[in-house]
Amino acid sequence: MSNQAPTGVLFVCLGNICRSPMAEAIFLDKVSQLGMQSEFTVDSCGTASYHLGEPPHKLTLEVLRDHGIETSHRGRQLAANDFSRFDWFMAMDRNNFTAIRQRASEDRLDRIQLIRDFDDQAPGQDVPDPYYGQRRDYDVVYEMLDRASGKLLDHLISLRQSA
Ligand code: 4NP
Repeated sequence: MSNQAPTGVLFVCLGNICRSPMAEAIFLDKVSQLGMQSEFTVDSCGTASYHLGEPPHKLTLEVLRDHGIETSHRGRQLAANDFSRFDWFMAMDRNNFTAIRQRASEDRLDRIQLIRDFDDQAPGQDVPDPYYGQRRDYDVVYEMLDRASGKLLDHLISLRQSA
């Protein structure tokens, strides 16, 4: 049994009802499949306060359910104490990335990354906001997040093993 502290991962989008709760649920599902729940602390939030306390968007829930994944997440906004609670801040797009950086202290800046930097099909690209879109837009987001969160998890596991 490792005595290493869990690795904290916070997924961040704008409203915390479409992309970041989907990323959180997909990542947690992969962690659970490996039986590594005690090694990761995972959550998601929004940079805005539009949807506080709300469940994820119905199409986010529908896509997750079609992949056998459930979530009980409720919308919340990025808070100052997140910067001491989490180790890694995974932005869905460049606007989120900039908004997180504006709130972070200097020593956390290198812990803020774009999630698609872990997507080998399009590193450095945004996860497009599907809020005004259709089911197919949420499916596209799912595929990006599935690829990127798998690679992110591999990376974080190897960091834990080399620590
Ligand atoms: P998310 O999508 O950032 O992926 O949760 C959005 C959700 C809500 C809004 C915008 C984007 N909104 O303007 O209310």
